[in-house]
Amino acid sequence: MTVAERVKDFGWYHTMDLGDGVVTPGWFDMRPYIGEYGIPDRLDGKRVLEVGTWDGFWAFELERRGAEVVALDLDDERALDWPPRRRPATFSDEPRGQGFRLAKEILDSKVERVVRSIYHATPEELGTFDLVFCGSVLIHLRDQFLALERMAGLSSGQLILAEEYDRLSSLVPWAVSRFRANRPKDVVFWLPSRKTWKRMVWTAGFDRVEEHGRFVMRAGKGEKEFAVRHQVLHGHKQ
Ligand SMILES: C[S@@+](CC[C@H](N)C(=O)[O-])C[C@H]1O[C@@H](n2cnc3c(N)ncnc32)[C@H](O)[C@@H]1O
Repeated sequence: MTVAERVKDFGWYHTMDLGDGVVTPGWFDMRPYIGEYGIPDRLDGKRVLEVGTWDGFWAFELERRGAEVVALDLDDERALDWPPRRRPATFSDEPRGQGFRLAKEILDSKVERVVRSIYHATPEELGTFDLVFCGSVLIHLRDQFLALERMAGLSSGQLILAEEYDRLSSLVPWAVSRFRANRPKDVVFWLPSRKTWKRMVWTAGFDRVEEHGRFVMRAGKGEKEFAVRHQVLHGHKQ
């Protein structure tokens, strides 16, 4: 079977160029936004943790810059934080991780994918990381703060965090989050304001936190196109 045929075997989250003209038909094409995250050009000799990798777009990008990368995710959708009425009752026919494995093989990557919730990721097991990278994961979590605390515990250097923020809440001067898990379509528990994200990252254990930037991510096509406002925060230990 050719690479192009194997790519058609299952659905993709990330649009990724696998070489020889094969591009995965992902829901999300992050390629136009790479420059928004402020990732160092080179990461040679650095250990990097990517939280919530899905098909691995960011993990492979971090590796391309020279890093040794560990990528966390879960395979069974039932283990994800879903509001009770929406939790899948059965194991999905398409467990997470298939796209990652195929892309890793084609790209001849050494990224290590560890099936572990960020809630249970510890330095005792995984070691510490010069850079922890996390994109669009926390808004889907019931306990955003525990996840941030874990990231601080795993970090010996920097955090790059890109998350959706609530524009309306960002207009008020105090730190608030909007509860959104009652909405039927997306799984978003809490949508913090920009200030709230920043304070949460600091409170979790990053000593210096700055807003690197903001951008609007567009996804979907035609009538189904939607836009998500992201804030990119950089956190530093010491
Ligand atoms: C919206 S996707 C973002 C994918 C990628 N980080 C990006 O920015 O393009 C969220 C990812 O987080 C993963 N995830 C959800 N809960 C998690 C948890 N508790 N621990 C680790 N990963 C989790 C999901 O399985 C999914 O791959």
